Amino acid sequence: MVSRVIPVDPFDLVLFGATGDLAKRKILPGLFHRFEVGQMPSEARIIGSARTEMDAETFRQVTKDAIEQFTPDSPNRAKTLAQFLERLDYVTVDVSSDQGWQTLADALRPDVVRAFYLSVGPSLFADIAGRLHDCGLATPDSRIVVEKPFGRDLSSARALNEGLRACFEEHQIYRIDHYLGKETVQNLMALRFANSLFEPLWNATHVDHVQITVAESIGIDGRGAYYDQSGAMRDMVQNHLVQLLCLTAMEPPSKFTPNAVRDEKVKVIEALDPVEPGDIARGQYRADAGGDGYRDHVGNPSSNTESFIAMKVSVANWRWSGTPFYLRTGKRLRARESEIAVVFRDPPHTIFPNVGRLRGNVLVIRLQPDEGITLRTTIKDPGPGGLRLSEVSLDMSFADALGADVRQQDAYERLVMDVIRGDQTLFMRGDEVEAAWAWVDPIIRNWEETGDQPAAYDPGTSGPEEALMLMHRDGRRWRHIGG
Ligand code: BG6
Repeated sequence: MVSRVIPVDPFDLVLFGATGDLAKRKILPGLFHRFEVGQMPSEARIIGSARTEMDAETFRQVTKDAIEQFTPDSPNRAKTLAQFLERLDYVTVDVSSDQGWQTLADALRPDVVRAFYLSVGPSLFADIAGRLHDCGLATPDSRIVVEKPFGRDLSSARALNEGLRACFEEHQIYRIDHYLGKETVQNLMALRFANSLFEPLWNATHVDHVQITVAESIGIDGRGAYYDQSGAMRDMVQNHLVQLLCLTAMEPPSKFTPNAVRDEKVKVIEALDPVEPGDIARGQYRADAGGDGYRDHVGNPSSNTESFIAMKVSVANWRWSGTPFYLRTGKRLRARESEIAVVFRDPPHTIFPNVGRLRGNVLVIRLQPDEGITLRTTIKDPGPGGLRLSEVSLDMSFADALGADVRQQDAYERLVMDVIRGDQTLFMRGDEVEAAWAWVDPIIRNWEETGDQPAAYDPGTSGPEEALMLMHRDGRRWRHIGG
């Protein structure tokens, strides 16, 4: 199936941090892909901006190299890439001085959508927003896009929100959580709210528990300085896993509008019970044979930062009371695998002789790899020899069902197009980010106050023993990571 592409309006996108890693790996390749498929119109322009002195020609060359490195080759790529590069310009801007701002102002057109993408550290958000405002670049209709980490606790997140809101209205601020741009994450909303089959069962009466796993096989190599100050709780749970939890647990919004959806997500975060220390397992990967471990990767031999976390979370509301949500994420695990598994309650009674306990159905929403949806069901074993039962999966792989084309859109490119369209549904609102920090802060504070140490785990496994125990003591089991 070929997805239908509706071009967005012409725009000027100013990309701060245009020579950084994220710009080269994700944002520029993503924009190129949107240009290739015809969604980015030929009147659109991308203005790279950074402190590095360079002319537009050099920026085009840097972008060309990045796109050739990070996008798959295609028959017409060279020709389309040449056309895309013509849409690029570059202005040297020093965020801490007046240098470059007037040139940037002169480069912008008055009659097209205007977006400022801050692919820079959060310490620069308020300064850039302030300059955009003071130099008159921030028109009432322009948009500002910011990346995570959005603060490292509630008070820093509040300060960032205040800095941005001093210059932009909330409806102009796009806080990216790239998990919300993933195809299957949105499909979770379609599955729940465009089908009538699941919603009547989507509650504590029928759901035994939910498991949300974001497992990664890569380690921290090369990102140690940032990661060791963050850990899995700040880097993954506060944002990505909380977002997945919200979309799974939220009430149906009355309509699919940005504020209706985000109102429901905030209600979920506000309903989260504080997490008891005993309901959390933290881990840190040790060195494997001949290799480096977490502490080598971050260059801190006494680091207590977690590269793995598993936790049991309660959503204290009418729908979910009594149905725990187990969250788990970690680096250097057995495989890169992310999924949401909704585990339904076991059948209350078995009518079949000589059959052990019947297990409940499991609905699995696979985020990566091989996005798709699976429903574990129990059927009769085919063939003669009496009635025996076995478990099989009703399996729907998006690639098989819909063709490979739909999979090619990366989360970033979808989100950047939403910015241009002015659709905030898949972006975090300020109060949502603050609510998530308000829930996470006491957990981290407790570790700091008690000197909590993460348990060591072997690379290539599913994390520390303690994580398994978290489930076992409740009479449950984690789903297997890695096929
Ligand atoms: C980022 C985290 O937000 O998400 C990284 O900072 C993590 O630590 C990454 O590796 C995972 O994203 P994805 O899309 O590869 O699952």
